[in-house]
Amino acid sequence: MIPVLELKDLHVLLCGRHHQDVELVKGVSFSVYPGECLGVLGESGSGKSMSMKAAMGLLDNGFHVLGSARFQGEELLGKSAEELRRLRGGQVGIILQNPMTCFDPLYRIGAQIAETFAAHSSWSGEDIRQRSLQMLEKMQIRSPEEVLEKYPHQLSGGMLQRIMIGIATSMKPALLIADEPTTAIDAVTQFEILNELLRIKLEHQTAMVFISHDLNAISRVADRIVVLNQGLVVDQGDFHHILHHAADPYTKLLVEKRADVMRRYRQMLAGKERTYA
Ligand SMILES: Nc1ncnc2c1ncn2[C@@H]1O[C@H](COP(=O)(O)OP(=O)(O)OP(=O)(O)O)[C@@H](O)[C@H]1O
Ligand SMILES: [Mg+2]
Repeated sequence: MIPVLELKDLHVLLCGRHHQDVELVKGVSFSVYPGECLGVLGESGSGKSMSMKAAMGLLDNGFHVLGSARFQGEELLGKSAEELRRLRGGQVGIILQNPMTCFDPLYRIGAQIAETFAAHSSWSGEDIRQRSLQMLEKMQIRSPEEVLEKYPHQLSGGMLQRIMIGIATSMKPALLIADEPTTAIDAVTQFEILNELLRIKLEHQTAMVFISHDLNAISRVADRIVVLNQGLVVDQGDFHHILHHAADPYTKLLVEKRADVMRRYRQMLAGKERTYA
């Protein structure tokens, strides 16, 4: 089977005019297959966002990207900006780390959702409105009609994050990249959103890359985990492996600090998972 996304020896260099090049990503390799969710862990600055941005053509000319990033077998590095733009929002859904930066402050939310829908479908205006409302409801947004009329600054970070997840998943992408998708969302809503992501993964065999510091969230959605540190993959395996055999100090610390995860994990082993479902 061909991976949906395959990174091979991916390097990202920050090219300096007045200083030496800095290597931010130092040869990252991993693959994600249809219907699989890869969790990406790693301390702040380890290169999680940078790797995904490099693969998806979201870095400007100040960066050099080397190695290989393939989507469904096709090399992405070297594709034109237009080709990559068409891919993003269509076959590849991307949920970026900072929701505020993903919306244009000058346009109403409804117009921004409609623009994405129109660019990647042949739906009529009325269809788009109905689907926008359905999407907002799925993302647990109250009063969706009113929300369509709002400007980004009139909504909370958590609401924008949920709308972004809704937009990214609406096109039933083959690949969904979610960079810290639930940081601004309260625990109850987060639970529902993760359920929605799991449903999408199962129903559409979507391959997911789920970047998070939250071991609880990772444990719920990820089939496999890679840990990055200083631009390199330092650990990989399933959740059990990461909990018990992580070699990287940051991973160990994260595991130790998260006693609640351990508790939940033990309950899961004891067959009490139902209370969480
Ligand atoms: N726009 C930028 N210009 C220069 N360096 C950058 C830029 N963005 C990130 N970096 C650097 O690249 C490295 C990797 O950053 P990256 O954003 O990938 O980290 P991350 O693992 O996503 O961290 P976090 O968990 O905080 O989101 C860091 O050393 C960071 O300082
Ligand atoms: Mg990041």
